[in-house]
Amino acid sequence: MGAGGVRRRDFINIAALSAAGVGGVAVIYPMISQMAPSADVLAESTTEVDVSAIEPGQAIKAVFRKQPLFVRRLTPAEMEAANAVPLSSLRDPQSLADRTKPGHTDLLVTMGVCTHLGCVPLGAAEGENKGEFGGYFCPCHGSQFDTAARIRKGPAPTNLEVPDYSFTSDTTIVVGEA
Ligand code: FES
Repeated sequence: MGAGGVRRRDFINIAALSAAGVGGVAVIYPMISQMAPSADVLAESTTEVDVSAIEPGQAIKAVFRKQPLFVRRLTPAEMEAANAVPLSSLRDPQSLADRTKPGHTDLLVTMGVCTHLGCVPLGAAEGENKGEFGGYFCPCHGSQFDTAARIRKGPAPTNLEVPDYSFTSDTTIVVGEA
């Protein structure tokens, strides 16, 4: 092997290392950016939820912009209970229709964040305490939400927030898009 051959091999090795280095940076950067998204990126992020598997009477928990999101399929009886409440008796008067989408009034999408001091209410998982109004119960200070996730009792000042969302098909919603 001549001197020229050694130099050539070194060059190839250095080139290979450099390529690995560049590749490494390219791989690591998105991981870091995913772990710590900037406020701007987070504010624009959306969450897609397949709602086809949620049976009437069931709710599921998802995550939207790092916060809990509840998606609940109401039974006919739960819808009837929500519609039977006079709006004038509510602390934060909103009808079930106000809080759902036309043609999908059985699907209730809310943030899973209590409007009192931000605890996560119970009632979105199998067997959890739904409280005396059949919706959600906040274990921190006892706020009770009805089947439209409206505040009915306890210190929370307002209903669980309904985020912007839209249906992209009969079975899929995208939260974060009006
Ligand atoms: Fe829910 Fe206080 S944080 S009742």
